[in-house]
Amino acid sequence: MKILIHPDAGAATECAAGLIAARLARDRRTVLGLATGGTMEDLYRRLIRRHHAGECSFAEATSFNLDEYVGLSPTHPCSYWHYMRHHLFDHVDLPAGQAHLPRGNGPDPQAEADRYENAIAAAGDIGLQLLGLGPNGHIGFNEPGSSLSSLTRVKTLARATIEANSRYFDRPEDVPRRAITMGIGTILRAQEVVLLAVGPRKAEVAARMIEGPVTAFCPASVLQFHRNCTVVLDAEAASELALRSYYEDIHPSGS
Ligand code: GLP
Repeated sequence: MKILIHPDAGAATECAAGLIAARLARDRRTVLGLATGGTMEDLYRRLIRRHHAGECSFAEATSFNLDEYVGLSPTHPCSYWHYMRHHLFDHVDLPAGQAHLPRGNGPDPQAEADRYENAIAAAGDIGLQLLGLGPNGHIGFNEPGSSLSSLTRVKTLARATIEANSRYFDRPEDVPRRAITMGIGTILRAQEVVLLAVGPRKAEVAARMIEGPVTAFCPASVLQFHRNCTVVLDAEAASELALRSYYEDIHPSGS
């Protein structure tokens, strides 16, 4: 794992946006794996800014999002389809037919998960996978206890995840209990992984991900096995790392 530590959330997020833009510049046909969550809102703002400045184009790229809630239609305001249109797709040149998310409201969610897994494989798997970090160590919606070689499937959300995500819904009881998520095995097939985590809420789990044992109890810890994984943190999220000064020696100022 390459650990890049930046002084604040803005610098960390700009760094992660820069890694995505650099990948697109190297390979305009990149298959991007995209994430949702509060952390990514600022990252997408920064990518849109770069796009408007003529620094990056999504015209030949393809994207697959990590996950979608079961039961929500693509037009539901709390769906991840809606999130992606609002925060990225409506503002960049990614052609509509090249952006993919699982469909949450189909009649057979597991059949949709299988279809999605096959579509990712047919696209040649993910080139660059962007990840956030759940406060309980989840990546996508791979909750603690997930098989470390799982493929795209339906997962029941952990209570902590439902609570964390209830801020987006009118009432906590409106948060779907299940989601379709790329599996951990699907994510591990990506050529390159960039995980962004900022703020004090992520400090303990970032330490478990980077320095703890590889365990299904903290699904993100499996990224220790990935050959090309960059973790971008701000100082707060890095505050509980035992080897922090070592990482800073290797990459001063997150360079
Ligand atoms: C959701 C998403 C995850 C994301 C997590 C963290 O649960 N499914 O992919 O990493 O939120 O979100 P935040 O950035 O708001 O902390």
